[in-house]
Order: sequence, then C-alpha cells, then structure tokens
Amino acid sequence: MIHKGKKLYEGKAKIIYEGPEKGTGVQHFKDDATAFNNLKKSQIEGKGVLNNRISEHILKNLNQIGIKNHLIKRINMREQLIKLVEIIPLEIIVRNIATGSLTKRLGIPDGTVLDHPLIEYCYKNDDLGDPLIAKEHILAFKWATLDELKKINDMTFRINDFMVGMFRGIGIKLVDFKLEFGRLQEGDKQEVILADEISPDTCRLWDVVSEKKLDKDRFRKDLGNLIEAYQEVANRLKIFPEQHNITEVKFNKPTSIKIKKK
Ligand code: TMP
Ligand code: ASP
Repeated sequence: MIHKGKKLYEGKAKIIYEGPEKGTGVQHFKDDATAFNNLKKSQIEGKGVLNNRISEHILKNLNQIGIKNHLIKRINMREQLIKLVEIIPLEIIVRNIATGSLTKRLGIPDGTVLDHPLIEYCYKNDDLGDPLIAKEHILAFKWATLDELKKINDMTFRINDFMVGMFRGIGIKLVDFKLEFGRLQEGDKQEVILADEISPDTCRLWDVVSEKKLDKDRFRKDLGNLIEAYQEVANRLKIFPEQHNITEVKFNKPTSIKIKKK
C-alpha cells in the first residue's frame, strides 16, 4: 500500500506528490494534453494511463543497460513511485530526423535524416516558452556544471542509441525526443540521473513504412486518433491493457480506494 502525501508540483501533464518515504515521490500522469506552451489544451481520456505504462517500460529497460533513472516502480494505472530529484532546468532535445521546430527555425527540409544525432538544449521555463539556449548559457547561468553537462550528454547519446534500436525493432523510427535530468542526493553523494517521462508525449515516432505519426503531433497538428496511436505503440512494445490495478493506493485524505488484484 502506497501513502501519498501532499502535492509538491503540478505540471501540464503530471502531478508529483510526496511519497511514502523521505526522498520518494508519486508521479501521477494526467489526461491533459497541451501544446505550444499551453496555448492549445484538451483532455484525452486514457492518455495518462498509456504514458504511465510506456514510460515505465522504457525507463525499466534503460535501467537494465545502466542508465540510472528516478523510477522505482509503477504503482497503478496512473502512478509511479519515484526517487525525488532536484530537476535541472533544461530540456535536452535529441534529433535523428529533422522536423518540428528545427525545420521552422533553420529551413531544413522536413524529414531530412541527420548523419549524427543532434542535441539541443532548452531552458525549462514556461513563462519564457522554454527557449533554445547554447551550452555557454548553461554554464554562464550555472543551470548545470560542465561535469554534469558531460554526464548528461553521454547518457543522452546512450539513451538515443538504445531507443533507436528498440523502436526500430518494432517498426518505428525514433525521429526526436526530449529528456530531463535531475540531481539525486544520497548521503553526501550527489549524482545526475534521468527523470520525468519518456512517452509518445515527449518523442516523435513514425511508422517505418507509412511514416504515420504515432505521437503527440496527432494532437499538435489536429490529426486525431491520438489514443489509437499511443495504443499502437504500447501494443508493439507488447504492453497490454490491465484488467485490474496492481496495488492499493491510499490517499491521506479524504478517500482510500481499494482496488483488488486480479
Ligand atoms: P520541437 O520540434 O517542437 O522542438 O520538439 C522536439 C521534441 O521534443 C519532440 O519530440 C517533442 C519534444 N518536446 C517535448 O517533449 N516537450 C516540449 O515542451 C517540446 C517543445 C518538445
Ligand atoms: N509540452 C509543451 C506544451 O505543453 C509543448 C509541446 O509538447 O508541444 O505546450
């Protein structure tokens, strides 16, 4: 049974609560969909559940190849138990194929396959619309140290290599994606680990043959059938729907919901 404490943070697609033990949190996936820094908003039933499962699957696999991350375990359909970290205020974007803001900003033809993965950094700040920044800004404003940035880059390329292969194996091109990292304090030791989520909300995923978009661009571009697309990704990853929840979730107040194991 997992005890949820007070709400620590609410973002556009997730809420973080205090977890049952010091240093832990509960990450709750909402059904809210936003794009263009909250200018476009909607609720898409089932999105949170799918992202929870897909992100759990990817982070577990990354852990197995030695990429430390904040996931402890999934608790139920919408929630994960996580290690609380101090989020580094950067969005790390990795691109294998040019599309989205890169094509608009630099006039690169959509779909151009890049010879090498390209890393871009954005400053994580909603009020400023997460602006693109250079490595020099990160160091000048001390958002991360040079050592942290080197570790972030190394981990990011390893994550990209792994994910390109994983998705290629199920007939999907990993076009681009976004990562967030955080500082984990354990005693007097601090290390940078992967945080947040990796899901069709934070990746661009195209079917290898048809180039059908299987990600949040379905919402951004009003293509429709977002849930079907996320479900398709889950199915191909062999993540199947659950009939019942896996643990009891106890809310501090005012309700306690008991969901039976099958
Ligand atoms: P972009 O082409 O809009 O810059 O997006 C690049 C990748 O980053 C794409 O996979 C979507 C993801 N992304 C997020 O996860 N969150 C964001 O706020 C933005 C702007 C992009
Ligand atoms: N997540 C951002 C927003 O909510 C942008 C995006 O994913 O397109 O506006």
